[in-house]
Amino acid sequence: MKIPIDKPILVTSALPYVNGECHIGHLRTYVPADIYVRMLRKMGYDAIFISGSDTHGTPIVLSAEAQGITPEEVVEKYHEHFKRIFKDLNVDFDYYGQTDSESNHRRTEEIVKELIENGYVYKKGTKQAFCNTCGRFLPDRYVEGECPHCGAMARGDECDQGCGKHLEPGEIIEPRCKICGSEADFKEQEQFFFKLSSFADFLITYLDKLGGTRNAKNYAKEWVRKELMDWCITRNLEWGVKFPGRDDLVVYVWVDAPIGYISFTEELIEKEEEWRKYWTEDKATIVHFIGTDIIYHHCIFWPAMLKGAGYSLPDAVVASGMVKIDGKTFSKSRGDVVWAAEFLERFHPDTLRYYLVAQSSHTKELDFSWDSFSTRMNNELVAILGNLVHRVVSFAYKNFGVVPEGDIEDEVLGKIEEIREEVVKAVEEYEFKKLVDSAMGLADFGNGFFQREEPWHLIKKGEKERERCGEIVKNVLQIIKAVCVLLEPVMPSKMAEVWQQLGMESDVHSAKLDEITVPIASGQALKKPKKLFERVEV
Ligand code: MSP
Ligand code: ZN
Repeated sequence: MKIPIDKPILVTSALPYVNGECHIGHLRTYVPADIYVRMLRKMGYDAIFISGSDTHGTPIVLSAEAQGITPEEVVEKYHEHFKRIFKDLNVDFDYYGQTDSESNHRRTEEIVKELIENGYVYKKGTKQAFCNTCGRFLPDRYVEGECPHCGAMARGDECDQGCGKHLEPGEIIEPRCKICGSEADFKEQEQFFFKLSSFADFLITYLDKLGGTRNAKNYAKEWVRKELMDWCITRNLEWGVKFPGRDDLVVYVWVDAPIGYISFTEELIEKEEEWRKYWTEDKATIVHFIGTDIIYHHCIFWPAMLKGAGYSLPDAVVASGMVKIDGKTFSKSRGDVVWAAEFLERFHPDTLRYYLVAQSSHTKELDFSWDSFSTRMNNELVAILGNLVHRVVSFAYKNFGVVPEGDIEDEVLGKIEEIREEVVKAVEEYEFKKLVDSAMGLADFGNGFFQREEPWHLIKKGEKERERCGEIVKNVLQIIKAVCVLLEPVMPSKMAEVWQQLGMESDVHSAKLDEITVPIASGQALKKPKKLFERVEV
């Protein structure tokens, strides 16, 4: 999607449930979003980037129960954990909040009241799963059973192993209590419902115009065309945002979680008129980064809720494919999982950032394996990028010490321009793999240019040859400078190292794309190069 340059952009990434540690599956939402924001800024956009911890819902309560601590303690522990991981990975939010904040409680109550006033909420008697052994209702993940749509094993709120559909309370077949394992009963209970079904026509039109990746739009459209059931938006839980006027019910976590996007914008921009630009006045572009498992919530439920309460609508939803591991779905219980913290103990964060976007195109599944990780490291980061920088900067440092004199050749400028266009197109299409492939293509071109011109033969000859040698070196340093700016969004800290080796005075993080064709200044002192990447043996 071509984004209007004259409006601010708000980029969000889905709020992680802080019920356990961060794994590399999560990172496929956060790393590409961070790359996108860094790239937008390089392109001259005014972007803000927010996320925060999803602190409510049964994932947290169950985790607290299993650990024998309170939900607050679980939240605190993992909220800090996620913040730490994001910092280590250079995922640089302008604001990272949490949904149990006072302002999110307030904003959620306000929106729910608005929906009630506008006639989109009604009360209905329902049958809810109830465990006689534990003596309580079993909302969402407290219950497991069979998916009514596809027959796979599912949990109460979602068919997570099968068709991926959202499940309403009472829908699951042969429910069992997650806590004690006994067969659950159904018991009458009054709940509140959101009239999602009345938004079908609105959603069809809205989804037609929605930007982002095609998978998000297409899945959502298919769901709307088939059936749109009203959503039960209350739960029998203690932990959460109270439903207005009812002390015994909280709102469903998928009500207050996305509202976090609004509250966090408010918390970041404290001025009332300012956050309204984003959320009630349509004066900004809103882009959500998520994984395919939560398309339903972001493309159907959330826009309907915003529309019903009179708020602005998201402009784009960018959905990544799921991360698998050696062909299998991530599973903590089976041990099929790669923890972010463990990964970062062994490898540089930038190598993980690179791998996550280079390994497969954004909307496709990503099948993680140590084999594919080491192949990408060795054949790409070490053999192409690391080699280019080390070989050329070493040669230049040894023979000149500074960036030599000379003009940048048309062939080189033309190539840089061509790659820049490819990269911008990749960003507009959310094709982060194309972005890195193009930038790496430029590095490859640099290696080929250096090899072809054989400057090492010229340096030993006369003064004229030395001049030509300098010119060649300057051209390849220009290519490195361009690669560095283009890859900074992907590998911010490694590219800062390269920038330093080139002797640049400015900051590569704030360098704009326009700079890549600006000739590198002759005479600026080069730094003694250090190896960028180490080979990985598995
Ligand atoms: N709390 C909700 C999101 C609320 S947004 C208002 C949630 N949390 S989550 O912790 O389960 O997931 C956080 C993000 O990580 C989501 O974008 C989700 O799609 C993504 N992923 C979690 N596991 C994943 C994989 N195995 N693979 C790819 N993405 C995954 O959903
Ligand atoms: Zn199913």
